[in-house]
Amino acid sequence: MTDTWISRRACLGAGGGLAVVAVGGTLCAAPAPRDRLPSGDAFAPWTSFDDPSLAGTPFALVAAAVLAANPHDTQPWLFHVGDDAIDVHADVSRNLGAMDPYLREMHLGLGCAIENMALAGPPNGYAVRVAPVAGSVIGIEARDRPVLAATLALSPQPPGAADPLHRAIPHRHTNRYAYDRARGLDTNWMDAARRLGETDGVRVMFLEGAARDRLESAMIDATRSIVADAPMIADSDRWFRMTDAEIDAHRDGPTLAAAGLSFLQLAFARLFPVSAQTSHAAWLAQTRDTQLATAPVLGLIAARDRYDRPATIAAGRCWQRLHLDATLNGVALQPINQPIEMIDRERQTGRGDAFAQRIAELTGPDWQATFGFRAGVCARGGVASPRRRLADVLVA
Ligand SMILES: Cc1cc2nc3c(=O)[nH]c(=O)nc-3n(C[C@H](O)[C@H](O)[C@H](O)COP(=O)(O)O)c2cc1C
Repeated sequence: MTDTWISRRACLGAGGGLAVVAVGGTLCAAPAPRDRLPSGDAFAPWTSFDDPSLAGTPFALVAAAVLAANPHDTQPWLFHVGDDAIDVHADVSRNLGAMDPYLREMHLGLGCAIENMALAGPPNGYAVRVAPVAGSVIGIEARDRPVLAATLALSPQPPGAADPLHRAIPHRHTNRYAYDRARGLDTNWMDAARRLGETDGVRVMFLEGAARDRLESAMIDATRSIVADAPMIADSDRWFRMTDAEIDAHRDGPTLAAAGLSFLQLAFARLFPVSAQTSHAAWLAQTRDTQLATAPVLGLIAARDRYDRPATIAAGRCWQRLHLDATLNGVALQPINQPIEMIDRERQTGRGDAFAQRIAELTGPDWQATFGFRAGVCARGGVASPRRRLADVLVA
């Protein structure tokens, strides 16, 4: 697969092309990282985001939704578009099994999509009011039919100015490369990021010093635990798309190109497929020795109850906003959710609550982390992931 390099500066246009990044305490004009868009129709949704034929219709909101972050690129969403509302359904058939036994991560991903829709409303002539379904994700038993997660009420209004985050939607990509550990993040940016979820009962926490190191250990230990848990790692592996043919057929799932591999590692992985055991060992090594070792900052997003459905959607919205804001400010982000996935898994299997306790020591007893991530500055931009067509995610 060939990669097309698109200059973000060119994409954002005169209105806001120059990413302003605040690094090491001083604001400076960053060399704009560039989007990497692999070729193939599975990546077309990234360029049809502002398709003029959708402008001013509710479908423009769905075109924004499908570009959201989501667990393992499962794209677990279905949209019912009505005259004055869009229903967002969890496509529970696209669940991650033992990696997400309570559909908590699925609902985080739906929250990410909902945030993109809320941002796409005003420039397309809609005020958007989000009403999430109440209750706990633990009560959702269905795995064979869509489950309503939220309704977005749309009120027509004259098209208004877009939130600056809106223009970052097609440029936001998870960045799994090595970061520059020597370049810390600007404290003003971090302070603003901490406030992102404030009004929705969600907290963004950045961990530094000893707390950062404890989170790093939990992330490494959780990765080991997942590799050792046969059902978990199998449920994770089945979403990986190793070849162009698989990407074209499925238009979803993690790809080699987006895995953060060096040029040589990527070439080797494409030429010489390895055993599952070798690839799991490589994932652990990459998490520990590259992704965590080079991350100046680790973070958590927490809610009062990590299984509450509205709180989970609010936490997903918060992550999407954080990532869009980071994209505009030259900050690279990657979720690292293994510890929280292990909290769910220990609960599901009755194997105790060791990971829940380790993470609670970092958040305090009043908050429950539902999302972990690393942040930093990276010389390379993240690589786009495949997306399904609009027609695949619309329901009658
Ligand atoms: C709830 C959730 C959990 C995620 N967990 C991880 C993770 O543990 N490791 C990782 O590399 N990416 C993780 N991601 C990122 C997704 O893999 C990514 O959003 C998806 O593949 C689509 O790619 P994109 O974000 O570049 O569009 C997570 C995203 C979400 C929303």
